[in-house]
Amino acid sequence: MILEVADLNVRFNTPEGDLHAVNGLGFSVAKGRTLGIVGESGSGKSQSVLAMMGLLAGNGSAAGSVRFDGKEILNLPPRQMNKLRGMRIAMIFQDPMTSLNPYLRIGTQMMEVLEQHKGMKRADARERSVEMLRSVHISDPGARFASYPHELSGGMRQRVMIAMALLCDPDLLIADEPTTALDVTVQAQILGLLKELQAELHTAVILITHDLGVVAGSCDDVLVIYGGQVMERGPVDEIFYAPRHPYTRGLLSSMPSQGANKHAPLTVIKGSPPDLRCLPAGCPFVARCDQRLNICESERPGQFSVGTGHLSACHLESAS
Ligand SMILES: Nc1ncnc2c1ncn2[C@@H]1O[C@H](COP(=O)(O)OP(=O)(O)O)[C@@H](O)[C@H]1O
Ligand SMILES: [Mg+2]
Repeated sequence: MILEVADLNVRFNTPEGDLHAVNGLGFSVAKGRTLGIVGESGSGKSQSVLAMMGLLAGNGSAAGSVRFDGKEILNLPPRQMNKLRGMRIAMIFQDPMTSLNPYLRIGTQMMEVLEQHKGMKRADARERSVEMLRSVHISDPGARFASYPHELSGGMRQRVMIAMALLCDPDLLIADEPTTALDVTVQAQILGLLKELQAELHTAVILITHDLGVVAGSCDDVLVIYGGQVMERGPVDEIFYAPRHPYTRGLLSSMPSQGANKHAPLTVIKGSPPDLRCLPAGCPFVARCDQRLNICESERPGQFSVGTGHLSACHLESAS
């Protein structure tokens, strides 16, 4: 395993009290594999990975264990964490402008990464940067090298960000909603590109999205989270064709279907996510679950094995 997360908890101190954004989250990612993390907006996806990377806001704190390549990295001193982020773990975000400097040419930014983190000479850094732009299918990479970020389209900027992220050949790439801001065609191109690069470079990937459609074609395994907790985890095919958790089933039935009943009304899960300042004692999904049992109100369900590598955190599994 390249990454093993156990009992991760993230709290935010707010004027209205403690907000429990991530609650006992656990998962692992094998070398070279892609894990999709799916959940509605506000379910704790971003804060889980920001906590792992030591990037929480000032009012946030993280507890638990995050092992990267066998070593504990949660709450490492900033200097060590910076090194790890540059060299071995890369992140990309929804908005490329959070990682690109608007005032510097793309090539300059790329060469800086290689000079700083890999100690490369200018000429080598230049060659490697152009090569990387080519591998993310930027046409005329030699010319693009001299462009400023604002001179590129959204899709191109996202490609440049992927190129920057992969420059140092990281073991793990974390992509947080990388295609959410793009239109459907460009989104598909970027996801295809990520998959292609991952196969070539054997990078492990965590792909975060609120859209189950995005994970379908891109991931090996899927983690479904809600209220900062794991609801279900399993191989992508099982999650799509044999979902067990009522929340996963709800998410699936709210996906627009592509087939014959494309025009059928969209089912959405009734209700809204739990208040993270006072989570229910039992399952966080209890208020919206149409299959709830009495025990769901009072006891947090454990994780039940429902197939190979397939877990569901639902009391229905113990009742059946
Ligand atoms: N600095 C902060 N202070 C207080 N609450 C925060 C802070 N940052 C994030 N949160 C809350 O943490 C919860 C999880 O957020 P996030 O992980 O960003 O969700 P998402 O699944 O959409 O990525 C949300 O309720 C969000 O409002
Ligand atoms: Mg997010």
